[in-house]
Amino acid sequence: MRLLTATDVHALLDPDAAIATQRAAFTALATGDAWQPDKIGGGPGGVDSTVFCYAARLGAATGPVSKFGSVNPGNAALGLPSIHAVLVALHPETGVPVAVLDGGAVTTVRTSAASAVAVAALARPGASRLAVLGAGTQGRAHVRAISRVLAVKDVAIWSPIPEERESAARELDVRAVADVADAVAGADVVVCATLATEPILTPDLLRPGATVVSIGSFEEHRREIGTDLLAASAAVVVDHVPTARAHSGPVVAARRPMELLALGDVLTGRATARRDPDDLVTYLSVGLGVQDAAAAWHVVERAEALDIGQEIAW
Ligand SMILES: NC(=O)c1ccc[n+]([C@@H]2O[C@H](COP(=O)([O-])OP(=O)(O)OC[C@H]3O[C@@H](n4cnc5c(N)ncnc54)[C@H](O)[C@@H]3O)[C@@H](O)[C@H]2O)c1
Repeated sequence: MRLLTATDVHALLDPDAAIATQRAAFTALATGDAWQPDKIGGGPGGVDSTVFCYAARLGAATGPVSKFGSVNPGNAALGLPSIHAVLVALHPETGVPVAVLDGGAVTTVRTSAASAVAVAALARPGASRLAVLGAGTQGRAHVRAISRVLAVKDVAIWSPIPEERESAARELDVRAVADVADAVAGADVVVCATLATEPILTPDLLRPGATVVSIGSFEEHRREIGTDLLAASAAVVVDHVPTARAHSGPVVAARRPMELLALGDVLTGRATARRDPDDLVTYLSVGLGVQDAAAAWHVVERAEALDIGQEIAW
């Protein structure tokens, strides 16, 4: 069995390859080739953290993958990332464990790459202005990933913490903006990647034709965007319809039947999201095991080919 650290994962999964893995994951969901059961998530009362556990399989050629981890919002005060996870990949034919990966690194790369896939499919023609709300691990990764699919001319990054947005702006060579309304003014694509439980963005702040991506509305009680934004959208696209109906904060909060389009259906031409350049289109990501499976198997296969990672007798 191979042990693959965060350094190994980042070395083996470059942004363009990661984007290709996510396109493959959503396509496999649309064609019915993937196995994507519901996730397990939650925790006891009285704790601030959320445990998550995913199992999935991309298809017959690659083995099952499981990711077990925790989101701990209090970690920022300790100087630690909010998300930690362990990912295990099993052999497709024998089920023998073939690799254990740093699941935090896989999560960072696959989530931002998946948003890039969504942006490429959903953004208005000529989109070039990006605003990112949230300047943590995901906010920063999203600037990098979306820059691979959009000819970005301007990037504004916002966080409620001045030092955080300033350090992100320095690291990424983008604009730090102190106010959400100023950050999103005129933006073609707005990414929400925060730990906010209440909406931080309202539709009146957006230009016509904007595409909003929210990755932080991943649990029933998390709504970094609100039901007003869904109601104002010409199309609401999600990573997986059953998962979004069960777990996406704004969808659950809407408490009424709402048309949701699956990203995989948009990618494969089974559904059309944007019909007009001035449509507001929203993409909600809860996060799926099949995304981890697609990214992890790319890493495992390259690690085997290049003999990277520590081998452990099992
Ligand atoms: N959908 C997915 O697949 C997926 C995958 C990974 C992470 N996520 C989610 O993305 C979000 C960001 O994750 P991360 O790893 O970048 O976390 P992080 O801790 O590195 O960054 C969180 C950001 O949110 C900001 N923030 C915290 N509380 C806030 C509040 N009340 N209002 C506004 N902003 C606030 C922080 O200042 C920081 O900029 C989290 O909600 C996480 O659970 C989703």
